[in-house]
Formats: sequence, C-alpha cells, structure tokens
Amino acid sequence: MKTLIVYFSWSGITARVAKKIAEFLPADLEEIKCPEYKNLFVVFWLMLFARNKELTLAPLKNNPADYDLVIVGAPTWAGRPPRPVIIYLNRYARQFKQVAFFSTSADPREQQVLKTMEAVSGKSPVAVAHFHRPAVSRDSFTRTVQEFVQKITDSLPETSRATP
Ligand SMILES: Cc1cc2nc3c(=O)[nH]c(=O)nc-3n(C[C@H](O)[C@H](O)[C@H](O)COP(=O)(O)O)c2cc1C
Repeated sequence: MKTLIVYFSWSGITARVAKKIAEFLPADLEEIKCPEYKNLFVVFWLMLFARNKELTLAPLKNNPADYDLVIVGAPTWAGRPPRPVIIYLNRYARQFKQVAFFSTSADPREQQVLKTMEAVSGKSPVAVAHFHRPAVSRDSFTRTVQEFVQKITDSLPETSRATP
C-alpha cells in the first residue's frame, strides 16, 4: 500500500507526529508550506484582519492521486485547521482514494479540527487521532500513534496491508 502523510506544522509538533507515524507505516512525507506565513505576527495579522486574503502553497513534491492512502495532519489554530490545510484539502481531496486525519492542539478537548477536515474534504476517514501538545513534547505519544496505525491497517483489505 502506498501511503502519503501530508502535514502543516508551525512549531514542529505536528511534524513530529507525522514522522512517528511513518516509523510504523512506511510512507512518503509532504510538508505543506505557505510563503505568506513569514512569522507568527504575520500569521496572527492574517487570521485577525485578512481572513479573505488569498494564500499560496509552496510547490508540493507528491501527487496524492498516486497513493492508496493519504494521511493529513494539522495543528489547531483558533479551533480550526490552519488555512493552508484547508486550501490543500479543497484542491486535492477529490483525488484521495482513502484518507485518515490527525490533529494536534494545546487544549486536549480541542478536537474540532478532525471534523472540519472531514467536512472540507467530503471524505469519511478510515481513522482519526488527536494528539495533545505536551504529550508529544515529552515523547509520550507512541501508543496513540500505534493505535492510529492499527486502526488504519485494520480498515484495509488484507492484500494491501504493509508490514512495517
Ligand atoms: C496561531 C495559533 C493558534 C492556535 N490556536 C489554538 C487553539 O485554538 N486551540 C488549541 O488548543 N491550541 C491552539 N494553538 C496551539 C497549537 O494547536 C498546538 O501547539 C499545536 O500542537 C502546534 O502544532 P505545530 O507545532 O505542528 O504547529 C494555536 C497555535 C498557534 C500558533
């Protein structure tokens, strides 16, 4: 099974989760980058005062249509996925054969991002997982990653399961 893990990460937490998933489920990794996000001040300014300003994505390396499964990961920004993730999903979700989502946040109750990614993509995920930032920082998130990967593997036909 060919898997692509696509993620956006500002301060490295979502990236750490993405890389850990790839340790258990062989996958190509793709980071979504937004050239307009030059620093956190600009990010907040755009969020507060320029919600409709068009944002661009840096060129991507991988075509999601080439993969059996695309896993999309996002941090929580004001209760939502960052706009570059929304742009990515709007642009590419129709090409996903199967999808799984994961999110990260500072507040453990904040899991709306998973629902928003599902709504924006219009796809029902084979698995979802949420990661609390402090758990990722102190490196105690491996079990959640393993459970997420197990859920994904269980959802797939036996013939397409990969051995990690
Ligand atoms: C602009 C911004 C907005 C955020 N908004 C929220 C929020 O609404 N709820 C929350 O729990 N965490 C919020 N956070 C914290 C991040 O979701 C959390 O630290 C996440 O794990 C960071 O992932 P990253 O390092 O991959 O960027 C916010 C962080 C930033 C930078």
